[in-house]
Amino acid sequence: MRRLLVTGGAGFIGANFCHFLIEHTDVDVTVLDKLTYAASLAALEGLPTSRLHVVVGDICDRELVQRLIDEHDTVVHFAAESHNDRSLADPAPFIQTNVVGTFVLIEAAARAGVRFHHISTDEVYGDLPLDSAERFTEASPYRPSSPYSASKASADHLVRAWVRSCGLQATISNCSNNYGPWQHVEKFIPRQITTLIDGGTVKLYGSGLHVRDWIHVDDHSAAVWAILQRGRIGETYLIGANAEHSNRSVAEHVLAQFGRAADQIDWVRDRPGHDLRYAIDPTKLTSELGWEPQLTDFVAGVAHTVQWYRDHEAWWRPKKAETEAAYAERGQ
Ligand code: NAD
Ligand code: DAU
Repeated sequence: MRRLLVTGGAGFIGANFCHFLIEHTDVDVTVLDKLTYAASLAALEGLPTSRLHVVVGDICDRELVQRLIDEHDTVVHFAAESHNDRSLADPAPFIQTNVVGTFVLIEAAARAGVRFHHISTDEVYGDLPLDSAERFTEASPYRPSSPYSASKASADHLVRAWVRSCGLQATISNCSNNYGPWQHVEKFIPRQITTLIDGGTVKLYGSGLHVRDWIHVDDHSAAVWAILQRGRIGETYLIGANAEHSNRSVAEHVLAQFGRAADQIDWVRDRPGHDLRYAIDPTKLTSELGWEPQLTDFVAGVAHTVQWYRDHEAWWRPKKAETEAAYAERGQ
């Protein structure tokens, strides 16, 4: 593995993965990114141009995709429309990028015979009851709830079919909720932090009892690297760090970082179809590939993330007003 093509490398997780690659490996990296509203070239600033360069383009562009894939030996596919609330308001870009874009990539990758890793999400498995100990495994049935998760599930099915019948050399990973630097202010943790910096208070959907299983983005990057190194072709690996927290409890941790009382919460309109609980059983990844999450102190991770947003106001400030205006329109 010498030359990696990273789709969506200017997004939250893709950019953090590029930092990981430059710091921990000796591979050369090409980012292919359309630079949608979710992208940030600033997140890649400072990485050595001798090892990383950016191509601005669409994963649905067949000619561009084939040319780039032919120049690389490995593709890691992060590019996606990634926000559930947006998918409810306007699903078309989700079908185009997440389904058609993945189709274009796997056709080109199968043709070129390169190694392909598809980044997916635990949401393809739908949700779990709040009051159970059940967790998702690689054998869980697909049961997506939102246009976003249905588009990601569709992409997973395409990748699996292309492995079985079209010679694609691929692995898939389905990860839980990520947090860390460079995450767009539309997402839960950055939204609350930046709202509190602005003197507002946290916004919780519905009851606030919904549970997410949190992982620091650097642990996600290390897991993807482990799969690229040691994963078996055709296999799916679930990535999670055993860190289930209710939204209310996360909100309280964030409020505490600002010295604010735990009950300073704006209860806002719930998300239609809101998944109750996600929980990952990462046993296959840990036992087969020896990966373990390192950043497991969630409260410390949140504190560090709060400080990161305090230190990077110039980065998120231009996105904040527009993001909040869209939420306000939906009563959220
Ligand atoms: P993001 O929205 O922050 O970034 C997505 C990136 O993809 C952006 O840079 C965007 O410009 C790019 N992109 C979108 N459409 C494109 C297209 N047609 N062609 C080229 N580039 C395009 O998303 P993220 O949170 O970094 O998520 C990355 C991947 O990880 C996604 O596949 C997502 O489904 C998956 N995932 C995310 C999480 C999470 O908690 N954020 C958890 C599990 C899995
Ligand atoms: O589980 C993995 C998924 O995690 C990824 O596939 C998605 O790309 C990623 O966006 C994330 O999806 P969620 O819908 O879980 O994340 P989000 O940050 O939008 O919301 C997290 C939880 O917080 C969810 O239960 C909705 C709730 N929420 C969100 C916002 C923005 C609030 O209560 N208030 C808010 O203001």
